[in-house]
Amino acid sequence: LGLTGGVRGFVPTMGALHRGHFALMEQCAKECSTPVVSIFVNPKQFGPTEDFSRYPRTLEADLELCKRAGCKVVFTPDSETIYGNATTTIHVEGVSELYEGAIRPGHFDGVATVVNALFNIVQPNVAYFGWKDVQQCAVISNMVEALHLPVRLQFCETVRESDGLALSSRNRYLSAENRKLAPTLFRTMTELAKQILHQPNLGRELMDEYCAEKRDALTNSGFEVDYLDVIDPATMRPSRFTANSRIIVAAKIGSTRLIDNIPIQS
Ligand code: PAF
Repeated sequence: LGLTGGVRGFVPTMGALHRGHFALMEQCAKECSTPVVSIFVNPKQFGPTEDFSRYPRTLEADLELCKRAGCKVVFTPDSETIYGNATTTIHVEGVSELYEGAIRPGHFDGVATVVNALFNIVQPNVAYFGWKDVQQCAVISNMVEALHLPVRLQFCETVRESDGLALSSRNRYLSAENRKLAPTLFRTMTELAKQILHQPNLGRELMDEYCAEKRDALTNSGFEVDYLDVIDPATMRPSRFTANSRIIVAAKIGSTRLIDNIPIQS
């Protein structure tokens, strides 16, 4: 990109930017002298039956939002630029095994491979990611450590609609009826967080029971639940309650799959 000097900040995105991205870009622009955003819908992180071709592409509006957030350098590569004829894939073991990794085989290989390529091209000092994709945060942290990548990671808390629904580019797929139902995910996690905070020494067995009850409640409300669990975000494994543990959920409403997570805090 031919940029020199100061602190280069980087917000990698797949476009269809919303207020969640805006918060990342604003923070990046505030903290870094050269804020850079990338927009690239990465084919390698979509499974064969997933929504790559219908993933929203809104470049003009995206560029406007980048500018408003203070990010004037926007990198919009094509697949040829990122991958060329290369066939190398980065696989991060452990943290990419369960949850999204189990349900979307190959997804995190695609994420790690593209993020590594983008880091090498953009060469940021700091990179910004949302906690909304908590397992992605774990995969990227692990990769940065394993490959000694010279970049500091900054994870920012999820931005929500006033009814609790986490902002996501995929929310636009929701029908009006399902949009009303969607905040139930956040409400359910919040209820579970309260239960856990009442009994902070809860063993994992009882925790499993509570999680199962919440999964059943979501199923009864019309969700098709992939998982709901309490995890340690460093290992992405089930955990007991600690200062860092988070509740994670993934569920489908109609044909739209939503993921979300919250820290367990009073
Ligand atoms: O979080 C996303 O939008 C994507 O997974 C990322 C990090 C831009 C890689 O394609």
